[in-house]
Amino acid sequence: GRKWVAVRLLDTGMKGQTVLVRGRVHTVRGTGKMAFLVVREAGCTVQCVLSVAENIVSKGMVKYVNKISKESIVDVEGIVSVPEKPIEGTSQKVEIQARKVYCISKAAAQLPLNLEDAARSERDFEKAEKDPQQGVQFVRVGQDTRLNNRVLDLRTPANQAIFRIQSQVSTLFRQFLLAEDFVELHTPKLLAGASEGGSSVFKLDYKGQPACLAQSPQLHKQMGICADFGRVFEIGPVFRAENSFTHRHLCEFTGLDFEMEIKEHYFEVLDVLEAVFVAIFDGINEKCVKHLEAINAQYPFEPLQYLRKTLRLTFAEGVKLLKEAGIIVDPMADFNTETERELGRIVKEKFKTDFYVLHRYPAAIRPFYTMPCWDDSRYSNSFDVFIRGEEIISGAQRVHDPELLTKRAIECGIEVNTLSTYIDSFRWGAVPHGGAGVGLERVVMLFCALNNIRKTSLFPRDPQRLAP
Ligand code: 4AD
Repeated sequence: GRKWVAVRLLDTGMKGQTVLVRGRVHTVRGTGKMAFLVVREAGCTVQCVLSVAENIVSKGMVKYVNKISKESIVDVEGIVSVPEKPIEGTSQKVEIQARKVYCISKAAAQLPLNLEDAARSERDFEKAEKDPQQGVQFVRVGQDTRLNNRVLDLRTPANQAIFRIQSQVSTLFRQFLLAEDFVELHTPKLLAGASEGGSSVFKLDYKGQPACLAQSPQLHKQMGICADFGRVFEIGPVFRAENSFTHRHLCEFTGLDFEMEIKEHYFEVLDVLEAVFVAIFDGINEKCVKHLEAINAQYPFEPLQYLRKTLRLTFAEGVKLLKEAGIIVDPMADFNTETERELGRIVKEKFKTDFYVLHRYPAAIRPFYTMPCWDDSRYSNSFDVFIRGEEIISGAQRVHDPELLTKRAIECGIEVNTLSTYIDSFRWGAVPHGGAGVGLERVVMLFCALNNIRKTSLFPRDPQRLAP
């Protein structure tokens, strides 16, 4: 049979062999007698040469290939050869002396965005602007153009890398927790009431009954604990009817959630969480070297600094660090985006880490299900986790006493009747437990120091976007 080879596997050892490759037309240029066709597959590229010399291919074939539109899918049959020096702009060390080219799917001649420009870094644009003599006309591709034509946009090397890293993050999360005796559950996304408070909930009609989309797996992952699963996790969609248009809020994102029995202290949850994240960061740095390079080429960033033993600060210590830097905040109110960033900078300088935990938050700024501290109920057994001064995780020990839970829900203005089946779960004996929720898109965004969460969401949903 004929020998199909993936572009990434083409190498000098195949010299002289006849191969078949399938990929996209990355670029094509030529003259009447020659055509140089660069074929791209899964981010790898190879140059295919067509030449009328010695009647290798016909003039008609060269003409035909020169006209194939960029991004079309082609099959190329030819002989592997090794050029004296590597062909600039291609990833493989070999060329293909093409005999036959078949276009099996034609791309529109006019694409809504230029993929070469879409892959350029800000540095490229700055260089071109400084040196207009070069005569290169680069056009910045705006975010809306990218997102409106996301399928094309996703074909750039940096975007390919971002989503391969995202896949690694959820894989590493899953593998680590499975090895620690967690069980993966799938909780319902259609709920009778809000789990995280009323304002950011998508309401819907459930066969005549008011309902909403799950704002988190919070209630049902806890009910999984009440059902004796001991340690549970979930990777699934989370819906938030956010109103504000920010760089880090989506209306739908992917939550990595876990919940576990606690024997003595909510630090047991933090122990698991920190170990998971060190494993994720190590795993990405080890397994995704090429992907990190591809992202860096377009969006340069400082590698994430993290400690083997994650830094834990109390909320009060955070307030104090800010105060020492001349920033006075209300010690019982939540930080805002700016103070969080500022604290991130202070921590980085002082402790040499981009990744840290802040715990023992004031109870009044945490959800109703959060366990107050036993020694001072103004505070709670809760935490947030930050990368580069931005929140990626929040978690806590939960209230497992049904009376206290009811009281807290009422105090927080939550409609208790929509929570009755949840609260009832704690009336049949409930172990102390806690857990956390991670925003997957935020983890990837902040690991790579990207400036917008839309870059790490495959098809982002924000207050103004429901398509593609
Ligand atoms: O802080 P949140 O709202 O906490 C919960 O949902 C709790 N049930 C978690 C728990 O187990 N106690 O959301 C958790 C994480 C945030 O830290 C953030 O990373 C991400 O989810 N997140 C968002 N990501 C993108 N867009 C949004 N609108 C987000 N809201 C929260």
